[in-house]
Amino acid sequence: MNNNIEGKVIVITGASSGFGKVAAEYLSERGAKVVLVARRAERIEKLAEEIQEKGGQALAVTTDVTDASQVQKLVDAAVEAFGRIDVMINNAGLMQQSPLEINKMDEWDNMIDVNIKGVLYGIAAVLPQMKKQKSGHIINVSSVAGHKVIPGGTVYCATKHAVRAISEGLRMEIKQYNLRTTTISPGAVDTELPNHITHEASAQGIQGFYKQFAISADSFARAVAFAISQPEDMDVNEILYRPTAQEV
Ligand SMILES: NC(=O)c1ccc[n+]([C@@H]2O[C@H](COP(=O)([O-])OP(=O)(O)OC[C@H]3O[C@@H](n4cnc5c(N)ncnc54)[C@H](OP(=O)(O)O)[C@@H]3O)[C@@H](O)[C@H]2O)c1
Repeated sequence: MNNNIEGKVIVITGASSGFGKVAAEYLSERGAKVVLVARRAERIEKLAEEIQEKGGQALAVTTDVTDASQVQKLVDAAVEAFGRIDVMINNAGLMQQSPLEINKMDEWDNMIDVNIKGVLYGIAAVLPQMKKQKSGHIINVSSVAGHKVIPGGTVYCATKHAVRAISEGLRMEIKQYNLRTTTISPGAVDTELPNHITHEASAQGIQGFYKQFAISADSFARAVAFAISQPEDMDVNEILYRPTAQEV
C-alpha cells in the first residue's frame, strides 16, 4: 500500500463517537497507527480492541482536552508507544445552541474550553515533537459554522471561527519547520453532536435540520484521508464541504 497513510502515527481527539471514531476506523484500515482520545474510556478501549482484532495498531488514551497537562501526557504516551506523531487531529468538540439572551454561561464556557482551548492545547503539546521530527501535520476541525453565523448558534459559531483563525496563524508560523496544517469545515453530518443541546427550541430546530440534511460521517473520514495522503510537498489548508442538499 503506498497511500501516504500507511505507517503514519495519527492522534485523533474525540474518537469515542462520530467523526473521530469513523476516521480512526477508516485510517487504520489504510494502515495508520491510531491513538484514540476521549473522556469515555470504555468506548475508546473497545474501539482499540476492535481495530487490533482486525490486525491494526491502536492505543486508547483517556483524556479531557480541556486540561493541558492531560493533553501533554497523551502526546507523551503516543510518542512512547509509537516513537513519533505524524498527524494530530484536533477534532473533539461540543455544540450547545441557545440564544445569547438566555445567558447559558456554563455552556459558553464548555464550548470555549473544548472547541478553542482544546485545540490550542493539542497544538501546544504536539508542536515540539513535530519540530524535532521536521515533519508533521496538524488537522483542526472547524465547521460551516466557522464560515457563517447563525442565530442561536452564536457562541458555537464563534468557537469555530476561532479554530479557522488559529489554523491560519499556525499555518504561517510553522512553515519554517516543514509542517502542514489543514482545517476541515463540514456541514451537517450524522453524529452525536446535536445531542448536547439543552435549550428545547434550539434542540428541536437542529434535530429537524439534521434529520433533513445530515450525511454519513464517512464523508469526514474521506476528507481527512485526502489531506493526509497528499505528497509531503502539498499542504491542503482548507476543506469546506456540505451535504449536497444543504443550502445554508
Ligand atoms: N456533526 C456535524 O454536523 C459537524 C459539523 C461540523 C463540525 N463538526 C465538528 O466535528 C467535531 C466532532 O464532532 P462530532 O460531530 O463527531 O460529534 P460527537 O459525535 O458528539 O463527537 C464529539 C467527540 O468529542 C469528544 N469530546 C467532547 N468533549 C471532550 C473533552 N472535554 N475531552 C475530550 N474529548 C471530548 C467526545 O468524547 P467524550 O464525550 O467521550 O469525551 C466525542 O468523541 C467537533 O469539533 C464538531 O464541532 C461536526
